[in-house]
Amino acid sequence: MPTVLITGASGGIGYELAKLFARDRHNLVLVARSNEKLTQVAAELQPLGVTVKTIALDLAALPAPKFLFDQLQRDGIAIDILVNNAGFGAFGEFAQMPEEEIHGQISLNITALTELTRLFLPPMIARRSGHIMNVASTAAFQPGPLMAVYYATKAYVLSFSEAIANELHGSGVTVTCFCPGSTDTGFAKRAGTENSRIFKQFGAMSAEEVARDGYRALMAGRTTAISGARNWMVAQSTRFAPRKVVTAISRWVAEKAEP
Ligand SMILES: NC(=O)c1ccc[n+]([C@@H]2O[C@H](COP(=O)([O-])OP(=O)(O)OC[C@H]3O[C@@H](n4cnc5c(N)ncnc54)[C@H](OP(=O)(O)O)[C@@H]3O)[C@@H](O)[C@H]2O)c1
Repeated sequence: MPTVLITGASGGIGYELAKLFARDRHNLVLVARSNEKLTQVAAELQPLGVTVKTIALDLAALPAPKFLFDQLQRDGIAIDILVNNAGFGAFGEFAQMPEEEIHGQISLNITALTELTRLFLPPMIARRSGHIMNVASTAAFQPGPLMAVYYATKAYVLSFSEAIANELHGSGVTVTCFCPGSTDTGFAKRAGTENSRIFKQFGAMSAEEVARDGYRALMAGRTTAISGARNWMVAQSTRFAPRKVVTAISRWVAEKAEP
């Protein structure tokens, strides 16, 4: 049975992905900070006949990705599929944003994702098989005033993933950059964007629906996939409008909706 490592699997999109992989008979390695939530997820999924290993880790702390890799090596667990899903955003003007929020987003959304890819990719190349899915966002396609760092981190994820997908062509390993739009998870509350126009007026997809899109894209080895037809159209429209206009609209949707 193949083994999948999913970061950020204690809730939201990562949890829904874990359910899909378990139903399709994949052993799971689930990572998040909350040991309690991970244990609950494991108890729910083990009866499906798969092995579920949980590792509670703060991936934003630099040694964490290497610690995770070393622990799995010691346990003799090879990872066939890596899903870099853990990520968070923070709302507010950059000049006022606390230092830990800025560095936290960069450490988790960029550094941990890159480091996990660096560590888990070579064994996949050696086996000439494997999949990596990096969860970006539709935020990757334009600058995001009021969430400047978050949008920039997701632009990195998109660019990085598409570049290495190209490098790995013919290697037997695929890299998928998956881009959800607004999704009904714990993300908006953590980010402080629950009252933004994007969540209030435009609505959010369910985590289950989004995870299904991501799962299909990963299994098909697609390089870039945007969840939802409306999100796809919005992402495409940013290619043709002037950057200043795109940035101004991006700010408007991030602002608080009128009550
Ligand atoms: N929801 C949206 O609207 C949306 C839209 C586009 C893209 N995305 C992206 O989708 C991905 C999943 O987000 P989500 O919406 O499912 O958010 P979520 O419900 O907040 O889930 C985030 C997951 O990441 C884990 N996590 C957070 N910080 C961590 C850390 N430092 N170390 C390890 N694990 C950590 C959380 O568990 P613990 O708290 O237990 O650590 C949780 O399992 C993220 O990359 C996000 O940027 C979300």
